[in-house]
Amino acid sequence: MKQDVEITKIMILNYLKGYKRKNTGSFREYDKIYATTTENIDAYLNLSNFKDKDSALTVLASGDQAFSLASLGIKNITTFDINKLTEYYALGLKKSAILAFNYQEFLNYFNTLFSPNITLEKLSDMIKYLLPYMDLEYKLYWQEIIDYNYKLQKNRDNQVNLFHILFYSTAHGISKLKNSYLANEERYNYLRSIIGNINITYDCLDVFDIPYIYEKEYDFILLSNILDYATYYLGEHWTYQDLRKELDKFKKLLKSKGVIYIAYLIGKKIKGIDTFESPLILNSRLMDSDLTQEELLLIPHIENDKVANYIEDGIILERKL
Ligand SMILES: C[S@@+](CC[C@H](N)C(=O)[O-])C[C@H]1O[C@@H](n2cnc3c(N)ncnc32)[C@H](O)[C@@H]1O
Repeated sequence: MKQDVEITKIMILNYLKGYKRKNTGSFREYDKIYATTTENIDAYLNLSNFKDKDSALTVLASGDQAFSLASLGIKNITTFDINKLTEYYALGLKKSAILAFNYQEFLNYFNTLFSPNITLEKLSDMIKYLLPYMDLEYKLYWQEIIDYNYKLQKNRDNQVNLFHILFYSTAHGISKLKNSYLANEERYNYLRSIIGNINITYDCLDVFDIPYIYEKEYDFILLSNILDYATYYLGEHWTYQDLRKELDKFKKLLKSKGVIYIAYLIGKKIKGIDTFESPLILNSRLMDSDLTQEELLLIPHIENDKVANYIEDGIILERKL
């Protein structure tokens, strides 16, 4: 935890000094975090039947995938992410907000927290409010980070919202349409009633190492759009065969009738045009026509919490028989 605090402090300091982080095309052990999902999670989870299902393996990211799964009845959720800081945000801050707030309070809380106009004092107080709801390790982390951020910024003319320094995807608050746990108040209240008692674990892992490390079987595996950042592992211009080799290793982790959501394709289809934009994934040679064992399904693209009328998203998935 100490190292995680120290590195987060350096990230804040470097940002305020004006240092630009180099875009390496892949995520790292310490990186900016997605504050909210960019995917229409509710749409792709609705493609599956959740009756009698109880386990999932998912990227952690903003926590929205894990909380959506939990709100649909999944009680054993194994999360992984290459970025260690996702744990403090998703399982620290966001989980504690679910414990502390009702539906409307939760939405208002994050809209205010992400606002460019929030004062340094208000932001610090809002995070402090949640500390009693956090596990000790997360509480210590956030306490140190808000104290440091406050001291560093209190005499600055141009104060910057901490969530704009350390996070992506804060511009439109948390979407009700994309997240199953926010689709309606009943779903959120259900999540709130069980969140303290279900099993959500986290490991800092590279997705491509997972088949060598985990042995359990899952009903659902969610890989988000990690393949957009996979050239380091799959090579420049990777092909369907390169991907297939990796996917085959995941098969032993899926229960019978399990589903692996292989890749989320954001805004990859122009409405009214037959095909998806090719290649399907940046820096790959993956084409629509390659997908022989998988399905490629359309998902409504959500923008500012409304269905977009000019593009659509896609999900590549595979179901085990
Ligand atoms: C792919 S990013 C994009 C955001 C995503 N669309 C969402 O809705 O959250 C999601 C997460 O994947 C993680 N990630 C990226 N590459 C990874 C890898 N090779 N192994 C494990 N996690 C990875 C990032 O750290 C990030 O938290």
